[in-house]
Amino acid sequence: MHTQVNNITIGYSDQGTGLPIVFLHAFPLNRTMWATQERLLSSQFRIITIDLRGHGESDAPLWRYTLEQSAEDVSALLDHLRIQRALFVGLSMGGYILFAFYRKYAARVKGLILADTRAQADTVEGIEGRFQMAQIAHKRGPAAIADIMIPKLLSPATVQTKPELVQQVRAMIENTQISGIAGDLMAMAERPDSVPLLRQITSPTHIIVGELDQATPPSDARLMAEQIPHACLTIIPQAAHLANLEQPEAFNQIISTFAFNLKK
Ligand code: MLT
Repeated sequence: MHTQVNNITIGYSDQGTGLPIVFLHAFPLNRTMWATQERLLSSQFRIITIDLRGHGESDAPLWRYTLEQSAEDVSALLDHLRIQRALFVGLSMGGYILFAFYRKYAARVKGLILADTRAQADTVEGIEGRFQMAQIAHKRGPAAIADIMIPKLLSPATVQTKPELVQQVRAMIENTQISGIAGDLMAMAERPDSVPLLRQITSPTHIIVGELDQATPPSDARLMAEQIPHACLTIIPQAAHLANLEQPEAFNQIISTFAFNLKK
């Protein structure tokens, strides 16, 4: 499905009925990374997956990107769908966008699941790495970004034993436009430190991290769990950064249990 928000086309999917659960994907992927969550959870909940600006079936304008703008796109899409409040699941960049969303639209957040993400801003070296990666995308295209990203997104065991999953992730990256890749890199580079926000989060929150996640390791997850009031933390074994794809059953179980408790 598609709709116009904030002067661009946004691609999304809306399946099932009940408590709305909104999924925000990682960089540089798209909403199809949530296919298993959508298939298995839409029998119990209303599952909304969104192609963030720059990804999948959404427009990827050649322009400045910010995470606040992506948060505004999400809010406008919820208006279009007549959803006032929802449970939000954000993985990695999706989590960064949830911090921006929470700053502006806390009243719309019934609950938060922050997966394989971090509250800290980029370091100076991290920002430099973003600009180098944007240059690589510009000069060598998204396939070069896939070569760099896949070992960061998936565990060595997954890379060796699950070629279809690796291919699925590669295809998502290779189908992302350069304007979206570079736009996101700049947006992530300039995102603010969200650590001071953590203590102000009053929505029920669950934090998930793959035990082998090197991009946003368990230490980052622990920091969020310590600072967000009453937050819970689950470390998923045998998963790296894309825990929802590497261990979908464990990931879905956490979402389902959290969502049922929210409904009570
Ligand atoms: C992601 O998975 O969204 C990225 O690894 C986030 C990042 O580069 O900081």
